[in-house]
Amino acid sequence: MESRSNTRIILWLAAALFALFIAFQLVQPRLVNPPVTAELAAPPEVKRILKTSCYNCHSNETQLLWYDRIAPASWLVASDVYQARKHLNFSEIGKLPAAQQKAALYEAVNMIQLGAMPLPSYTMLHPQAHVSFGDLAVLKNYLNPPAPTLAPDEAAKTAADAQYEHLIHAGAAPLTVEPAPNGVPYIPGYKDWKVLSTTNRFDNKTLRVIFGNDVAMKAIAEHHTNPWPDGTTFAKTAWFQQIDANGDTKTGAFFQVEFMIKDAHKYASTEGWGFARWRGADLKPYGKDAAFTNECTGCHAPLRHNDYVYSFPLEGQQ
Ligand code: HEC
Ligand code: HEC
Repeated sequence: MESRSNTRIILWLAAALFALFIAFQLVQPRLVNPPVTAELAAPPEVKRILKTSCYNCHSNETQLLWYDRIAPASWLVASDVYQARKHLNFSEIGKLPAAQQKAALYEAVNMIQLGAMPLPSYTMLHPQAHVSFGDLAVLKNYLNPPAPTLAPDEAAKTAADAQYEHLIHAGAAPLTVEPAPNGVPYIPGYKDWKVLSTTNRFDNKTLRVIFGNDVAMKAIAEHHTNPWPDGTTFAKTAWFQQIDANGDTKTGAFFQVEFMIKDAHKYASTEGWGFARWRGADLKPYGKDAAFTNECTGCHAPLRHNDYVYSFPLEGQQ
């Protein structure tokens, strides 16, 4: 008697769950593909990679597989696609100037390298979306073509060397440097810090060097880099690229120096970092008011899971 009623309860429950599952299927999210208005301008081999790995979320050409259409997973998928399109839409990005499209791709490559994109939850079920090492190389090569683009200019070189002497070497006449509009003071001592990494960028032709202070280096040695401890400070300097008579790329005129100073409490309103930038050889503070930091936090936001820091220490420093 008892076991019969138990069986009935179980059957009822199973039927109820099944009905719920079917009901779920009836409440499907509406995932529409708006028209492709301005597709990314890029060579076919670059687009092929992005189409395979990113377009399902970051374009108006979403093609769902059958198992993406089963609720409740389909609700997650739809929400990911809407989020993704809002941040980066390869079907509409073509309306931006070419340099800005490339800048967006540069950020995209960073995200791939960090393993943040495609979303790991997605590659688990869609292994074909994984970006291979070779494909990553194709993307990087497109963004950083090896050929130099600037002609040698002896006068500019001499001027830049003089500037370099002035800015880098101890003993140069000290400049009085105004603090940034958010109150962050200039830190002249960064030139003695350790070099964390160097990068060069295709879009504005600068060479960059990223320095870390003692707190940063200690955090790296102790693997305490996410979050970075208070007191961690990074400096990023940029010089214009210059091609010498041998065709080698070297640093030209000084462009700017930027800082990120970690203090979770003091700089809570800017993600725990004090951002500041000084431009030109006369180190003019950047930004007309403290709101200039929106630019910084906006572009560093994709790295929120990495405490907003882009750079990884060079091999051997970890
Ligand atoms: C399963 C869907 C999905 C796929 C596939 C995917 N993304 Fe994303 N992507 C997202 C979502 C969702 C966000 C927004 C995340 C957030 O706000 O934290 C995002 C954010 C980004 C951002 C950050 C934009 C910003 O301003 O914060 C970049 C860059 C990016 N994706 C690049 C890529 C690239 C490149 C690929 C392919 C290699 C890719 N994504 C594949 C879902 C996806
Ligand atoms: C267009 C996007 C963008 C904007 C805007 C931006 N950054 Fe960055 N920042 C980067 C990237 C990318 C890196 C990684 C190094 C590289 O490739 O040059 C970086 C690196 C840095 C670093 C070295 C530490 C790290 O995260 O790797 C500092 C310091 C820094 N930025 C400061 C600033 C400040 C200050 C501002 C605002 C005045 C700012 N950034 C605005 C993209 C941006």
